[in-house]
Amino acid sequence: MRQERGGELRPNGPETMLEAAKQLLKPSKRSDVPPFIVMDVMAAAAQREALGARVIHMEVGQPAAPAPSTAIKAAQAALAHGRIGYTETLGIPSLRARIARHYKDTYDLALDPVRVVVTTGSSGGFVLAFLSLFEPGDRVALANPGYPPYRHILSALGCEPVLIQTTEETRWALSAKSLIAEHRRKPLQGVVVASPANPTGTMMDADTLSRLIAVAEAEGIRVISDEIYHGLDYAFAAETAANLSERSVVINSFSKYFCMTGWRVGWMVAPDSLVRSVERLQGNLAISVPTLAQFAAQAAFDGREEMEAVKHSYEENRRILTEGLPKTGIDKFLPVDGAFYLYANIARFSDDSLDFAKRMLNEAGVAATPGIDFDPIDGKHFLRFCYAGSAADMREAVERIGNWLAHKR
Ligand SMILES: Cc1ncc(COP(=O)(O)O)c(C=O)c1O
Repeated sequence: MRQERGGELRPNGPETMLEAAKQLLKPSKRSDVPPFIVMDVMAAAAQREALGARVIHMEVGQPAAPAPSTAIKAAQAALAHGRIGYTETLGIPSLRARIARHYKDTYDLALDPVRVVVTTGSSGGFVLAFLSLFEPGDRVALANPGYPPYRHILSALGCEPVLIQTTEETRWALSAKSLIAEHRRKPLQGVVVASPANPTGTMMDADTLSRLIAVAEAEGIRVISDEIYHGLDYAFAAETAANLSERSVVINSFSKYFCMTGWRVGWMVAPDSLVRSVERLQGNLAISVPTLAQFAAQAAFDGREEMEAVKHSYEENRRILTEGLPKTGIDKFLPVDGAFYLYANIARFSDDSLDFAKRMLNEAGVAATPGIDFDPIDGKHFLRFCYAGSAADMREAVERIGNWLAHKR
């Protein structure tokens, strides 16, 4: 509409109206984040399965096992009770207390439950952490290769993800030296660390993590520690950043160790000073975390025996792959300390990991994720294998890949 002299409103001409209509349908620039390429591999795998082909799934990072039976029973009991209402914004108090107790049991840390915030998976925790810690334009360092949503969430929130290339020499971990070099080039306001890491499965020992946190905080760089793969550590026990600094923000989840991906429940350990902001944000963004999932999550802590058995099955899978893959010719990968991933260099076979993954799916029936999902710079030379499936699948995958690559040589 345009206003004529005298205040009268008249319709715009057709061209202006067309332009206005286009504007109405246009997504915002900040929402223009890249998709997860692994989803394309999943879709291609599903297509093959629909045609009757057998596919071994090593592309998606989720456990094949169900949630602990204690969790399922608690959810059933809550459902039988009837009403599922909202909960306190920061989470059910008994769940927050149970999570705090987990820190005493696992890391010998006396954690005040007031610092625990229940979140919608760790994904929800990242949005809350980034919003409460950073202003638009703030620069946040991330290890490259790394979990893609860190950079995509930051971009959507108007922050600048700063990728720092890591190498096999530092076991794919950010070093204090590389962090400070980037900070000197242009100041950083934050850094995300992850140990065990996705996609590499490597870990930082407590000293390395402690040094990195101390160096960052001395420069005013806020530390967010993604501890979603804690509990799935095979080489040595992972240390929590909460034990190393009260100012760091810890993000964790029931998705991986507790096999509860679809329940969408996680938690954050925040510094005291941040809890109220996080509460206000979560109250406005989500009111509270799904209630049924919170009841289940609390009971999941009583199912540790089951989860330890699942963990041992991953250890066996890890052995099958680390011994088997080198025999197929895929022999360049670091020792796999934790999580359920193996990040292999496939440069001797291909310069295009997406094409390699597609061919491996179509010709060998094994789905894995191309490294370009995790590393826009060098990922063309890497493939991530997830070994959260069954041992029989792992053996068959090794055999299929071996036969397939033998034909290529
Ligand atoms: C490193 C890492 N962080 C966070 C997540 C998000 O998990 P969720 O939102 O299910 O807790 C994932 C999922 O794969 C991950 O690999």
